[in-house]
Amino acid sequence: MTKQIVFSGIQPTGDIHIGNYLGALRNWVRLQDEYETIYCVVDLHALTIPQDPAAFEKDRLEAAKMVIAAGVDPTTSLFYYQSQVPQHTELSWILGTLTQLGSLNRMTQFKDKSDRVGANLGLYAYPVLMAADILIHHAHKVPVGEDQTQHLELARDLAERFNRRYGDEFPVPEGIIPEHGARIMSLQDPTSKMSKSDPNQGSRILLLDEPDVVRKKIGRAVTDSGTGIEYDWEKKPGITNLLEILSLFQDTAVETLVAEHHDKQYGEFKQLVAEAVVDGLAPIRSAYNTLEDEDVSRLMNKGALDARTSAEKYQVGVRQKVGLTGH
Ligand code: TYM
Repeated sequence: MTKQIVFSGIQPTGDIHIGNYLGALRNWVRLQDEYETIYCVVDLHALTIPQDPAAFEKDRLEAAKMVIAAGVDPTTSLFYYQSQVPQHTELSWILGTLTQLGSLNRMTQFKDKSDRVGANLGLYAYPVLMAADILIHHAHKVPVGEDQTQHLELARDLAERFNRRYGDEFPVPEGIIPEHGARIMSLQDPTSKMSKSDPNQGSRILLLDEPDVVRKKIGRAVTDSGTGIEYDWEKKPGITNLLEILSLFQDTAVETLVAEHHDKQYGEFKQLVAEAVVDGLAPIRSAYNTLEDEDVSRLMNKGALDARTSAEKYQVGVRQKVGLTGH
């Protein structure tokens, strides 16, 4: 039986944090055994907010290295920079012609980002390019964190619209959103998600943070009033977020952890969480440090070639369906 196709992407903006890892990246790694996996550093998406060109070059490479260090094997998965595969933008244009403005107006990420950096057309069309990323490879499954649900709905909707108007072309993709870890919260405000764009560095733990930095950030994490280690997003969002993080890094069910640590003081519990995170990140940091920039660039170029070949196959089908074959 042919394997189903998994596609996902990550933006090379700012540093990759444990939210990205627990919500998405570590699932990317796990899915490599069971699916045909295709992953992408979505550099064109990142241009929707202003970037310094020289810094951006570095950020792209760093993001590629982080994904590999986290366990994506570029000899198993197709892995490349989005901008190197022009079929994404062509399909994005075609899908744009099927997109209702109303659905883009409802996108909460557009509202958040345009409040911060000002609206531009790229930011507005961001979800359409994301749909094209997924559909150009005929992906069936898309492992992402919870914040991508609305974008994913649009991708599904566009697949259905295209199929209805032009005839069956795209599978309707489904999200793989983990039950735990899909929304890791800020360490400084456990009612908002951990985010690359939060100006407060203490709000997030980066995959490359040194052990002492991890300990300090978790030590200073905002906790809740009262005592006791309980899993309750309403009453104890700070401790619940830390429980979630501990559970994922230790591969232990939350209930087991609650039973074990229920009576601990917050300070003692935080130390435990910090050590689990330090241990969990150690292999990623050491893998990152062994990667040579030139080797990674070479792998990314090879990935782009292979991805173009894969995307061209479907590009022809789409062009035929919409009447763009040139004869
Ligand atoms: P990006 O770069 O913002 O985030 C990468 C992945 O990390 C997840 N994530 C989180 N998960 C749990 N807790 C958090 N606090 C948290 N913050 C981020 C995101 O859900 C994402 O899975 N639009 C996408 C990139 C993209 C894409 C695609 C994804 C472009 N094209 C096609 C899938 C398929 C994004 O902004 O990711």
